Amino acid sequence: MSFTFCTTKSLICAPDASQNIGEYCHALGIRKALIVTDPGITDIGLHTEIVSALEVANIPTTLFAQVQMDPPASTIKLAVDYAKSYDIDGVIGLGGGSSLDTAKLIAALVNSSQSLDDIYGIDKVSSGRLPLIQIPTTAGTGSEVTPISIVTTEDSQKLGIISNVLLPDIALLDPVLTRGLPPHITAATGVDAMVHAIEAYTSVHKKNPYSDMLAKQALTLMAGAINTAVFDGKNLKARHDMMLGATLAGQAFANAPVAAVHALAYPLGGHYHIPHGLSNALVLPHVLRFNHIAAFEHYAELYDTIAVPSSLPTKRKSEAFIAYFENLVPELELPNRLREVNVPKTDLEMLAADGIKQQRLLVNNPREMTEQDILSIYQQAY
Ligand SMILES: NC(=O)c1ccc[n+]([C@@H]2O[C@H](COP(=O)([O-])OP(=O)(O)OC[C@H]3O[C@@H](n4cnc5c(N)ncnc54)[C@H](O)[C@@H]3O)[C@@H](O)[C@H]2O)c1
Ligand SMILES: [Fe+2]
Repeated sequence: MSFTFCTTKSLICAPDASQNIGEYCHALGIRKALIVTDPGITDIGLHTEIVSALEVANIPTTLFAQVQMDPPASTIKLAVDYAKSYDIDGVIGLGGGSSLDTAKLIAALVNSSQSLDDIYGIDKVSSGRLPLIQIPTTAGTGSEVTPISIVTTEDSQKLGIISNVLLPDIALLDPVLTRGLPPHITAATGVDAMVHAIEAYTSVHKKNPYSDMLAKQALTLMAGAINTAVFDGKNLKARHDMMLGATLAGQAFANAPVAAVHALAYPLGGHYHIPHGLSNALVLPHVLRFNHIAAFEHYAELYDTIAVPSSLPTKRKSEAFIAYFENLVPELELPNRLREVNVPKTDLEMLAADGIKQQRLLVNNPREMTEQDILSIYQQAY
């Protein structure tokens, strides 16, 4: 079997690792850095110690703190223009997937003749990029180890830019930064990361032994930690396991791409700005049930990574795996019906028409999905 596997070159995982940011900037030759983050992060001052550490290391910084959730194309363009007006030679992404995805695009576009509109899709980035350090503050997207940025276009589509140029130089995993992450964001981003592991493991075209190994370890870590991380957020061991698990899942799906859960989640994010992890959680159990007849062997294998290995028959294990997620979403106190997040019932056809456009993802699903299938999944989730 042939496969390729690419990931971020350096991974540093330690409590308070972000305090050593100066050292890592020096290693990459960064002398003037742009920090890219969102107002939620600056409001709680999560950036201040990093800015101080850079000052101590004699690295002047500029802050772009206007990233919006599910970053719209207009925000990316604003951020790139902002970066162009400063003489920076390195980018530090600090925040959840929205900030990290924006940081990647700034690093790639700031010195490029290409614009955002030129690079949507796969392998369209023709230039290099500035040195890039990513510091996640959610344990979710895995953006610190993926070659992907997701942008919300003017017509509410979520489009991907996929290029190995976007793989960062350093992923700095500091679980201390997630200790104040509110329970509902911890829950939603954690479920997103678990979905990355599941969908990588069942990915039809690029499933490979490296991604499999990472996906299994990711699920073991996160299934053991997610409840504690949500309800006892200061627990550093749980925060560490969630952060590492999310990164491992990111490495897995960067090389064995995600599928129908994400394809059906994107229209929810694009139209109603339902947070990415919550969009995934809302459709997850229904997509797993739909996939069961095609994917039960893989789901059974994954069940052994989250539960005490048992001698249940394969199909029963797969059902137990699906039931685990059916129970997990309400247990984490996330809404689990589309109606609870105010999706109008009359929109379901429109959502299904949008969902079927996500062929980039649907081709990876273990069972083929028609527009009618997507509609009935949204109806079940309603
Ligand atoms: N690049 C990829 O591979 C990839 C993969 C999956 C999803 N995504 C994208 O990532 C985005 C979602 O990212 P996300 O789920 O990490 O959320 P996010 O970046 O949109 O942030 C959500 C909220 O959490 C807050 N927050 C973040 N860290 C915090 C902390 N430590 N303490 C308190 N508040 C904090 C932010 O201020 C923000 O309000 C979406 O646009 C999605 O499409 C990208
Ligand atoms: Fe995701």
